[in-house]
Amino acid sequence: MAKRNTFYEDEKIEKKIDIKQLGRTLKYILPYKKLLFLMSCMMLVAAVVSLLPPRLLKIIVDQVVVQEDYRRLALVGGGLVFLAAVEILSTFIQTRSMGKMGLSIITRIRTDIFERLQLLSFDYFDNRPDGKIVVRVTEYINGLAEFFSNYVMMFAIYIVKIVVVTVFMLSLSPLLTLIVFATVVPMMTIVFILRSRLRKMHTKLRAKNSNRTAFLVESIMGEQIVKNYNRIEINKGIYRQIHEDSANVWWSISKRARLNGPVVSIFWHTGTLCIYGVALAMILSGNDMITAGVVITFTTYMSSFQDPLSQISTIIQELAQVSSNLEQVFDTIDYPLEIKEKENALELHHVKGKVDFHDITFAYDEDVNILEHFDLHVKPGETIALVGPTGAGKTTVINMLTRFYDVKAGSVTIDDVDVRDVTLHSLRQEVGVLMQDPFIFKGTVIDNIRYGRWDATDEECIAAAKMIFADKFIMKLKDGYQHVLEERGSGLSAGEKQLISFARIVLKNPSVIVLDEATSAIDTETELLIQQALEVLIKDKTAFIVAHRLSTIRNSNRILYISNKGIAEEGTHEELMAKKGLYYDLAR
Ligand SMILES: Nc1ncnc2c1ncn2[C@@H]1O[C@H](COP(=O)(O)OP(=O)(O)OP(=O)(O)O)[C@@H](O)[C@H]1O
Ligand SMILES: [Mg+2]
Repeated sequence: MAKRNTFYEDEKIEKKIDIKQLGRTLKYILPYKKLLFLMSCMMLVAAVVSLLPPRLLKIIVDQVVVQEDYRRLALVGGGLVFLAAVEILSTFIQTRSMGKMGLSIITRIRTDIFERLQLLSFDYFDNRPDGKIVVRVTEYINGLAEFFSNYVMMFAIYIVKIVVVTVFMLSLSPLLTLIVFATVVPMMTIVFILRSRLRKMHTKLRAKNSNRTAFLVESIMGEQIVKNYNRIEINKGIYRQIHEDSANVWWSISKRARLNGPVVSIFWHTGTLCIYGVALAMILSGNDMITAGVVITFTTYMSSFQDPLSQISTIIQELAQVSSNLEQVFDTIDYPLEIKEKENALELHHVKGKVDFHDITFAYDEDVNILEHFDLHVKPGETIALVGPTGAGKTTVINMLTRFYDVKAGSVTIDDVDVRDVTLHSLRQEVGVLMQDPFIFKGTVIDNIRYGRWDATDEECIAAAKMIFADKFIMKLKDGYQHVLEERGSGLSAGEKQLISFARIVLKNPSVIVLDEATSAIDTETELLIQQALEVLIKDKTAFIVAHRLSTIRNSNRILYISNKGIAEEGTHEELMAKKGLYYDLAR
């Protein structure tokens, strides 16, 4: 079996994130050059302005207090008010621009991942639970949103602040600045080491949380089965266990993350003590470079140094989570498309409907061939019924034609053009598929029909419904065509859902129709209705019907009995009955 993920299995990320991957976020940031420039200017202004007050403080201490020069006091006071005003304004502009940029970036990432999900082949969805797919688009991106709209800016602001403070400190006393750096460098190194461990743990936490979501989604989708088989208590136990797994990882992360604070504090207090010691020693030894004003200003700077530093260490911690989020998001955005369009793909247009399977072989999982040397040639307008035991490969034959999966060997052609040489869009336009269980979206009946062609008018939708005899049951619904259907159509019978999907196909008007008939039993009256509708639907079209009902089978031009990786018997109903073989047994 291929790599099939489940709720009890941690998802493995195919690709690891590295600095290059983080740099990739630049691709999302760079389009906002103007905003970035404005923000950087404002940041610089705010940083410089916020650091000027200690300078003024030095004037107050050394000139106003020590030299008793009170004229300067008013000047300094006015200066302080002005600086405060500038700082508030520039910070405001900064935060606003950042919020705007963050929002745009997240919108782009969200759109990219959504688009990818729609392009990904069935194979991708076969291999992981729905919940794990959903969680990537929702939760992981929420984490990123927070990062882009807050942390990126704060990170930049703090770096700017640190640089500016350093310049200011150097201008006051290079020696004291050196001591500060002797403290900061080892401190940040330790913070970084702690962080790299954290990233791995965050990835593990993500996997555990996504197991939980997968189980949750599975339980909601299978809610009827859960109740029917009395699984509530057992499932509660499973859920608790899955939750505990994730809680344990969360707790170890939280313990480790808490180490950051003490590490920063220890280094910081040691550094401060050293500075006081050295300053005192310098003043005592008669060094006139160091005045009381210098020491006060310097220590004020130090505290405006400490704040950004501890914030940065928090952000670094946050970065651990963000990079593990990015890992998962990029993993999806980069996931290779199995079903790809050729560069110069042709457009299929109003095809006649000649369909040929040329000696195809196919396997879902490398080693087990489902079809081998399957050869079939269908004339335009022919109706082919596919019958055979369950699991024989009837749906698989259809999957080759619609290119939901690609053949391993051989080829499928429509009007002598390989399906791999045409655009997916035109292929899906020309080949209309009716699934075993048609999906109904939450919304009105008419909008559900309109899914067949988005620009169809109300009149066209109603005409389509009338054409395949769906009008009668729709008019019986409380609000007729405006009746709101539930997701997955829980208020409709299987036959009614089929009729809605028939109406969709009428609007789409493809040249080839593929129908995987529902196995579920429907009453004879509805069956008759569907039979009539089907005849209208496939008139003058090439049709492939995976048939379970004798009525459908009898009306087809040719019947294929699929078994043993290929066509075991072929012919009309009469021919096959006369043969008294596999089909004969099935029909009886
Ligand atoms: N997505 C998949 N991945 C792996 N194996 C698959 C997949 N889909 C089907 N199979 C396997 O391929 C074989 C053929 O399946 P297929 O769905 O074509 O059968 P079928 O003839 O349509 O059966 P039914 O009448 O029950 O619908 C089965 O053994 C099935 O287990
Ligand atoms: Mg099937």
